[in-house]
Amino acid sequence: MAQVVVEGLRKTYRVAVREPGAWGAIRGLARRRWREIEALAGVSFAIGTGELVGFIGPNGAGKSTTIKILSGILRPSGGACEVDGLVPWRDRIRHVARIGVVFGQRTQLWWDLPVIDGFDLLRDIYRVDPARYRRTRDELVGLMRLGPLLDQPVRQLSLGQRMRCEIAAAMLHEPRLLFLDEPTIGLDAPAKLAVRELVGTLNRERGVTVVLTTHDMQDIEALARRVIVIGKGVILADEPLDAFRAGVLAERRVVADFAGEAPRIAIPGVEERAREGRSLELAFDPARIAAPALIAAIAADYPLEDIRVVQPQIEEVIARFYDLHGAGEA
Ligand SMILES: Nc1ncnc2c1ncn2[C@@H]1O[C@H](COP(=O)(O)OP(=O)(O)OP(=O)(O)O)[C@@H](O)[C@H]1O
Ligand SMILES: [Mg+2]
Repeated sequence: MAQVVVEGLRKTYRVAVREPGAWGAIRGLARRRWREIEALAGVSFAIGTGELVGFIGPNGAGKSTTIKILSGILRPSGGACEVDGLVPWRDRIRHVARIGVVFGQRTQLWWDLPVIDGFDLLRDIYRVDPARYRRTRDELVGLMRLGPLLDQPVRQLSLGQRMRCEIAAAMLHEPRLLFLDEPTIGLDAPAKLAVRELVGTLNRERGVTVVLTTHDMQDIEALARRVIVIGKGVILADEPLDAFRAGVLAERRVVADFAGEAPRIAIPGVEERAREGRSLELAFDPARIAAPALIAAIAADYPLEDIRVVQPQIEEVIARFYDLHGAGEA
């Protein structure tokens, strides 16, 4: 059953236009001029309980705006949206008790308080049963390796340390639905892996529904089974990640290392994509030639040191999709 339903969602921001110079400033005081930015131009999708969806798109596409509406922070200009049967901005108090939200760009913890005191405050705000709270908190502290950070004020934490605390904070009341807006921004590799593991575990083992926004395509590849792609306020794609990948760039690649300089290979349906010294990257259409046949054909004619079949990098797939749809930043 759908847990999140969004239909024809629109959001127009109104921003004051600054007129240049002193006279402009004075005129501006008397008669403000406004410009409208259409951030969402009719967005629809539905997300089922237990799904983990990658919500991706270029800068300025409308991702954070959508997440803010879904989490009850913003009121849309039009359209409808329900989460677990509640309208987020109307039933805000009941709604926020059921969801967890992380905005990688800002903190929901108290800047001057030690981490542990912030966690305790959230326990009181969400009225979490104390025994249950202790159990969840200790589990999250273990998973995110927060032990040594708990007594430090939030403002003293490094970005990555703070992000780990933010994610734990969003989970303390055990929400069934998580909105993550760039949760791995600025994290080092181990911290990224820790976040991925935590999010994956929550989804797989606890059935938590996750909407994940990120520019890190490795996060998407590791976690998301489905992607919703937004560009300039409209949905451009909504399908399983595998289907999306195959639809954008169906070709596969063979990377071959030769004993000597990489040869020129002329096999129908095979194109060279990159070469460097003894190494060659070839693209092939799996519908025209099967990988084992291609490998056998190369091995028969040339001395090989290594050969492997790879998929095009997910970053390349996304970049090509944005290109095809003219989805780059407005
Ligand atoms: N508070 C605001 N006032 C005016 N315009 C805004 C406001 N917030 C966002 N916008 C504009 O709305 C559009 C969508 O912004 P949004 O933050 O939703 O994009 P995004 O997809 O999250 O991008 P990014 O990947 O850069 O985080 C942009 O053109 C942005 O400039
Ligand atoms: Mg954003």
